[in-house]
Amino acid sequence: MKENCIIYGGAGFIGSHIAEDLLLKDMKVTIFDKLNASKKNIAHILDKIDFIEGDFNNEVDINRSLKNMDHVIHLVSSTLPASSNLNPYYDVESNLISSLHLFDGCVNSNIKKVVFISSGGTVYGNPIKLPIKEDHPTNPLNSYGITKLSIEKYLSLYGNLKGLKYKILRFANPYGERQNPLLNQGLIAHLLYKIKHKQTIEIWGDGKAVRDYFYIKDGAKAIYRAFLDNSGNNIYNISSGTGYSINQILDKFRRVLKLKFRVKYLPSRKFDVKANILDNRLAAKHLNWRPETSFNEGLKNTWRYIIDNQ
Ligand SMILES: NC(=O)c1ccc[n+]([C@@H]2O[C@H](COP(=O)([O-])OP(=O)(O)OC[C@H]3O[C@@H](n4cnc5c(N)ncnc54)[C@H](O)[C@@H]3O)[C@@H](O)[C@H]2O)c1
Repeated sequence: MKENCIIYGGAGFIGSHIAEDLLLKDMKVTIFDKLNASKKNIAHILDKIDFIEGDFNNEVDINRSLKNMDHVIHLVSSTLPASSNLNPYYDVESNLISSLHLFDGCVNSNIKKVVFISSGGTVYGNPIKLPIKEDHPTNPLNSYGITKLSIEKYLSLYGNLKGLKYKILRFANPYGERQNPLLNQGLIAHLLYKIKHKQTIEIWGDGKAVRDYFYIKDGAKAIYRAFLDNSGNNIYNISSGTGYSINQILDKFRRVLKLKFRVKYLPSRKFDVKANILDNRLAAKHLNWRPETSFNEGLKNTWRYIIDNQ
């Protein structure tokens, strides 16, 4: 019999790719997302999945949705790194408290495993050593990162106290088709959208900030591997393991995608870390997961999608 998995926040960018991959793995996929959430990202698989409309902040909706589920993927977030400091109360209430309700529901419903997509770009803060391993100190510089880390810690507590099985995947910077270019998360989609619409690109700082960008279709494959993983290790970086500065990315746009555009540099922001490159060898060892798509190939796919859809 097919195993049932439910993806909270599954109608978004990352969730749509995870749903696609889990369907390929022959799982029965249910997506839980907001009432009136756009279904654009999942329109091509709507006939293959179940969709539950609900509010992640409503305990009744959560408990109802967990019935008959085997696996849970938690992707809901009500905040973004850049804006989370404006209202930390909201961040904690809507993300941390609701996650606790979800984990209680998972214990009561005998869920086999919870996979939580955390943020490898924010939980570590400014790195002491690159590439960053999973046991690197965690000193987030924004509320978003603190909340993600708190959710991780509570998962660990629920694991110890209540036997809840879980895996935490600390995603670096995913990019690819269906990323919303108008949010303050997802630099590559945002820049390519601006270029398509002939707008000047604005960069915070001098463009030397380094990030670890991985192609989302690769990242999505880590979830199924996490379901299978019985290694006893619970936290994994999911990343390319390679860093690119914003200026290097702009250079790729010029050389690989043959694009022309204008750039304006703005003052840097306090909560942006200078560099973030994640060591992904633990995921290779225990999950047998590795990034497969070259940066050039991923950029070409993303540009093609933006040209056709945005
Ligand atoms: N995109 C990134 O760069 C990145 C990097 C690391 C971690 N993450 C984390 O991965 C997760 C998914 O990111 P994404 O880029 O796919 O985001 P997204 O905004 O595309 O998707 C999130 C989904 O959650 C849904 N949602 C929000 N509040 C809800 C609520 N109260 N009830 C039900 N559904 C709700 C939204 O409708 C949306 O479909 C988030 O937790 C994010 O913090 C993202």
